Amino acid sequence: MPDRRAELHDVDPDAVNVLYPLLNNLYWVHLDIVDVCSKWVPRRERDDERIWLATQLARETVEVPMYLGFIHALGHTPNVSYRIPDSLNRYSYMKEVDDELDVVVGMNVLAQGVLGWVEHNQLYTYAPQFFAPMLETIAFDIGNLERAKVFMRRRDPERLGELFTGYRKHMLEITLPEIMPLIGPVMEAGVFQDDVVELGTERFAEIAAAVGLDPVAVMA
Ligand SMILES: [Fe+2]
Repeated sequence: MPDRRAELHDVDPDAVNVLYPLLNNLYWVHLDIVDVCSKWVPRRERDDERIWLATQLARETVEVPMYLGFIHALGHTPNVSYRIPDSLNRYSYMKEVDDELDVVVGMNVLAQGVLGWVEHNQLYTYAPQFFAPMLETIAFDIGNLERAKVFMRRRDPERLGELFTGYRKHMLEITLPEIMPLIGPVMEAGVFQDDVVELGTERFAEIAAAVGLDPVAVMA
């Protein structure tokens, strides 16, 4: 990880203060993602699907020091006590649950395909020089979501529909109320655009449609 302090002058000092909680959360999330991927790599029976997940695991291990580098560049250190409860609780659940389809919808769709997609794109657009290493993450996640879609299309569509409906409800009732104190100040500082919630909602519906579900039913 190169020293990115030199690029700090490109970031608004007011924005720097609101970036730390967000990046701190992403750092801890990524340690959990490494654990979740590590659990399922040896359990995947199909060779192609096992290789896809091993590829993701390798990528996520690179992203842990990437987030650490951003946090250090902002003059902070990681602090798990600032992590939002929904993030902590969702990953605790995903590390325990024995249904991998549940993990793929919770992690690859909600956490990475929707929340991470919004966050990474907004951060990179806001300060491309500072967040330059994030471009590889954005590129990787596009392909990774396509592989996750193939995984989901191979599974029971009824169970998949239940999971999408359940995570949509979770997003509305738990994730959004808990994440707003984190991203509200980021929006007020002008780092995130005002329509990030709408963007995330549309993205979730698009992914539902792409795996053969009725997005209207999922989003009802
Ligand atoms: Fe990641």
